[in-house]
Amino acid sequence: MTELQVNGETVAVDADGETPLLTVLRDELGLVGSRFGCGQGLCGACVVRLGDAVVPACDTPLWQAEGQPVTTVEGLARDGVPHPVQQALINSQAAQCGYCVSGIVVAAAALLEREPDADADRVAEALDRHLCRCGAQRRIVAAVLAARGSA
Ligand code: FES
Ligand code: FES
Repeated sequence: MTELQVNGETVAVDADGETPLLTVLRDELGLVGSRFGCGQGLCGACVVRLGDAVVPACDTPLWQAEGQPVTTVEGLARDGVPHPVQQALINSQAAQCGYCVSGIVVAAAALLEREPDADADRVAEALDRHLCRCGAQRRIVAAVLAARGSA
């Protein structure tokens, strides 16, 4: 049994330590906001926060998450109010299919926490690993910039 702290709650998971964190989140805990894309740590669809780092959950074994807070896209809203990055994406309808967005929101929220005044280059750099098949990157970067000051 592995004990995890996910989105502020302690949960016990009965899975092999080598199981990808993404599998645990989606299949054991029902947190399906983190998406499966490449399964190889290359597309960013599954990115979650692990402690102070942002990591691809598909490429993170369960044992590595033990003892560190895990934050998924489901954990970003506060009292039902979307995170400012989420709200900015909604306001500008920046996404198209939305498949890439949960990983992007987690990464962008972490960036603005570290660098509240991040400029367009820094936002683009932070999101560079996140593939968006719809080609919405420019609108997504603009939305993240619009969230500065409230994130
Ligand atoms: S599914 Fe994890 S990085 Fe692509
Ligand atoms: S909005 Fe469709 S993959 Fe990014």
